[in-house]
Amino acid sequence: MEVLQSPEELERYLAGSTRSRVLVPTMGALHEGHCSLLDLARRSRPDSDLIATIFVNPTQFGPNEDFDAYPRPMEADLEKCRAHGVDAVFTPVAAEMYHDDASIKIHEASLSHRLCGASRPGHFDGVCTVVAKLFNLTRTQAAVFGEKDFQQLAVIRRMVRDLNFPIDIIPGPTVRESDGLAMSSRNTYLTEQQRSEAPVLYKALREAAAAIAEGKLSSPDEAKKQITEAISSCPEAKIDYVDIVDASSLISLGEFTDENVRLLTATYFGKTRLIDNVGLPSPTSGG
Ligand code: PAF
Repeated sequence: MEVLQSPEELERYLAGSTRSRVLVPTMGALHEGHCSLLDLARRSRPDSDLIATIFVNPTQFGPNEDFDAYPRPMEADLEKCRAHGVDAVFTPVAAEMYHDDASIKIHEASLSHRLCGASRPGHFDGVCTVVAKLFNLTRTQAAVFGEKDFQQLAVIRRMVRDLNFPIDIIPGPTVRESDGLAMSSRNTYLTEQQRSEAPVLYKALREAAAAIAEGKLSSPDEAKKQITEAISSCPEAKIDYVDIVDASSLISLGEFTDENVRLLTATYFGKTRLIDNVGLPSPTSGG
């Protein structure tokens, strides 16, 4: 496995390979969720070079967010990449990704105003800008993004559509702990009490999704109320939002019209903001 620390090293690597590429962009602190994305990338594109990126992107963190505290266990991350068949890892430093006088960025003007974007202004512009740069730097044909960051996945798909990136976006299902908590690098911030409460997010979303599918909840408002009450029963939980949206436009549903429904929440446990989402259950999947 090659470890490429600069755009020049990446360029040399690309020049030496005739294979197509599949990309898994990450901010490191890799857990089983990321590893499942690496495995999915390998399965989906067995004959491509699998390139992972590890870059804690400063432009997607707000001033009071955890950029400095964000975990950076580089050696352990590289070990996981090796174990999951990565061909090359790109690990640039910020100075090599952003010029001091950089004056151009990508602005997403619709999807990112809702949900997480409402309380994280500029976050998705930072994500789009770095992902576009990684697409350009790697000239990849395909890229894998986790469904856990459902809004991010929708925004990236929109960017690929609107800016004509010739790249297949492959969604990766959320990987969960045995009690249902979605895997996240931020779970390590939780206290014991918060960790014991956090599975309520998935439980509340899943129960509401099942009730919707069974016709037991007649409106999105009723479903949101049920989810809000379940989460609020945990003393450490403070809800940022609970919403039920159209999975493509991310617009809040006023009524249940079709099956393209996504239930989402962002909830604080102490200072740690966790997100989760589910779709409606089908005979083959539980979202
Ligand atoms: O999902 C993430 O880890 C990040 O937002 C991404 C896509 C790697 C961009 O920095």
